[in-house]
Amino acid sequence: MPVPSVVRLPGSVQVWSPAKVNLHLEVLGKRADGYHDLATLIVPISLHDTLDLQDDPSGGIELECDEPSLSSGPGNLVFRAAMLLRDTRAPGRGARIHLRKRIPFEAGMGGGSGNAAATLLGLEALWGLDPDPAALMGMAASLGSDVPCFLADGPSWCEGRGERVLPVPMSGRLHMVVVKPGEGLSTRDIFSRFRPGSDPVSGKEALGALAAGDVRRLGKAMFNRLEAAGVEALGVLATLRARMAEAEPAGVVMTGSGSAMVALAEGAAHAAELGRIYRGLSTPAGPVRVFVVSSPA
Ligand code: C5P
Repeated sequence: MPVPSVVRLPGSVQVWSPAKVNLHLEVLGKRADGYHDLATLIVPISLHDTLDLQDDPSGGIELECDEPSLSSGPGNLVFRAAMLLRDTRAPGRGARIHLRKRIPFEAGMGGGSGNAAATLLGLEALWGLDPDPAALMGMAASLGSDVPCFLADGPSWCEGRGERVLPVPMSGRLHMVVVKPGEGLSTRDIFSRFRPGSDPVSGKEALGALAAGDVRRLGKAMFNRLEAAGVEALGVLATLRARMAEAEPAGVVMTGSGSAMVALAEGAAHAAELGRIYRGLSTPAGPVRVFVVSSPA
């Protein structure tokens, strides 16, 4: 089943739009276009937003969201994804879109990017368009660096700005706990703080451990080059990481450009136990939010 998953209902389509975590992220250098070349291992997780899409014969695109702080106009990637698909592949078609948010913002969990990919897949189904994965991939890359990985059918290794997506093998299901402090981080700000320096860390060990289903090995191999910039911008992340590590997960890493931190558990019961411990943590912004999640099997 593709991630995000699309369910066709009479007269409408529902799409589950998952969040992601980065279990390895290396920055290979700054490009002439101002973006950075990355090498990253991305795993979709069970925490998801939900999109309900209904055909609108009048030809309008309308977005409604249960989270009032989010734009429902062109500032929202869902709206831009819908306009882009309509203008390139379905002129004259329209849709009413309802977005139910659960994925935290400014967390490095790709919430908005995943919503954009879910919109492309959902509207392709709603409007009865012939599936065109290559065209969707091109549109996804033009919407944002993190959008293409959400068109992959499971975990992926992503390169370039994020637009080269290679599905990767995985054994079993990963159980994780995501901890989101009240303080958020801006992707642009974190990349601007990044300073090249040491030799690149290879993702080979993390990929091998994922393929073998070796959680302890994966926990040790998890790495995020942007974590130092995250700590520079938000010092409390260092304390949060230390508190999380005290409970002895297989490993802890910041996801994407932060501010959420991911602890890898050794199984479902261990994840539930870590979740109970982490619910007692707080930062200057207040209690953290805790999500006990799993990857697709
Ligand atoms: O592509 P997107 O708009 O999601 O990226 C947000 C910002 O993050 C970019 O404007 C850029 O500053 C930074 N970025 C980067 N290199 C990447 C991805 C994002 O420098 N590969």
